[in-house]
Amino acid sequence: MDLYEYQARDVFESHGVPVLRGITVTTAEEAGKAAETLGTPVVVVKAQVKTGGRGKAGGVKIAKSPAEAAEKAGEILGMDIKGHTVNKVMIAEGADIAEEYYFSILLDRANRSYLAMASKEGGVEIEQLAVERPEALARIEIDPVKGLDEAKAREIAEAAGFDAADIDQLVTVFTKLYDVYTGEDATLVEVNPLVKTGEGKIIALDGKVTLDDNAEFRHPEHAELDDKSATDPLEIKAQEKGLNYVKLDGSVGIIGNGAGLVMSTLDVVAYAGEEFPGQPKPANFLDIGGGANAEVMAGGLEVILGDEQVKSVFVNVFGGITACDEVANGIVQAFKILSADGVDPKPLVVRLDGNNAELGRQILDDAQLPKLERVDTMDGAAKRAAELASATTAPADADRN
Ligand SMILES: Nc1ncnc2c1ncn2[C@@H]1O[C@H](COP(=O)(O)OP(=O)(O)O)[C@@H](O)[C@H]1O
Ligand SMILES: [Mg+2]
Repeated sequence: MDLYEYQARDVFESHGVPVLRGITVTTAEEAGKAAETLGTPVVVVKAQVKTGGRGKAGGVKIAKSPAEAAEKAGEILGMDIKGHTVNKVMIAEGADIAEEYYFSILLDRANRSYLAMASKEGGVEIEQLAVERPEALARIEIDPVKGLDEAKAREIAEAAGFDAADIDQLVTVFTKLYDVYTGEDATLVEVNPLVKTGEGKIIALDGKVTLDDNAEFRHPEHAELDDKSATDPLEIKAQEKGLNYVKLDGSVGIIGNGAGLVMSTLDVVAYAGEEFPGQPKPANFLDIGGGANAEVMAGGLEVILGDEQVKSVFVNVFGGITACDEVANGIVQAFKILSADGVDPKPLVVRLDGNNAELGRQILDDAQLPKLERVDTMDGAAKRAAELASATTAPADADRN
């Protein structure tokens, strides 16, 4: 899970990392009041979205009075930054920035290690710096067993070429940020910019933290950081059902067993869709996994049918340990569960192959389910599902033209 900047700020503060005061609000009026509460001559209005480059996109603005803070917040709230709508802004104390640095710690999977990166040239596009002048970005490995102790922090600060006068302070900040990294079970802690103020104080001005979801059980307190309002409601529903679901923006719902099969189904459907008016595309990724029993199938279908954009559904199953007859029974049961719940069926194309395919197909044929078609090849089924989605979408498109 990625944290918002204001959440990262709070986590930093709880570990003793120097940060500025900030108040997070959702309306322009509250923004004005927050600026008044802070009482500093300058405040900065900052869009809270889980993407970088907010400054460049116009999501970070300086205000010199509460009235101006309210005005700037009004401009920023509702803004779209790289596909993220701004629903919250943080009103932060304005910093007197003398220099902008960069510091991060991340999980280095390839080397089974942690990596610290630091640069005297932060604030700007760090990715660009890393490509154009890699020597300006120090990269130091941290042995996870030894951790980032004072000596290591010093090594990092020296490798990045920081001024001798700042090193003691930086060492303290780096070790505290490492406390955040390990204490919160993060896979990324990034501070850009880490600033030096006119008075020579080092402060974390912007923070990005990614928490390791696998460590969730160790951190019940992290549950409240999960902002459901920013997650797609269908994804929340799928999560509650324990399904592996990702919403996409096409009109052909996809269900398959096994991540690899579902991935290739997405490709095949996208390709097949090119032939039809409106060029229907996959509406989602949904892997129901190996043991696709009736309940899991019903849960998956319910999530997909709940997506208004879905015009047809392609169920692509390759029977393995869970044989096709079990999956077919699952589909039949799923229809019963859904019709009892009053869920309207949509055109459904099913391809069953692999273990006990014949038996599975027979079960589906015998059940005579409404709007269900059986196609025996993956390509053929993808084509039919795309065609059905196109047929239901095309007239609406025609109306619009
Ligand atoms: N509290 C602040 N006081 C003064 N300047 C700020 C403050 N917060 C951000 N800035 C300036 O805005 C720039 C972009 O802000 P930042 O929080 O890093 O957002 P992003 O990385 O998403 O663009 C910073 O590099 C800094 O120059
Ligand atoms: Mg930044």
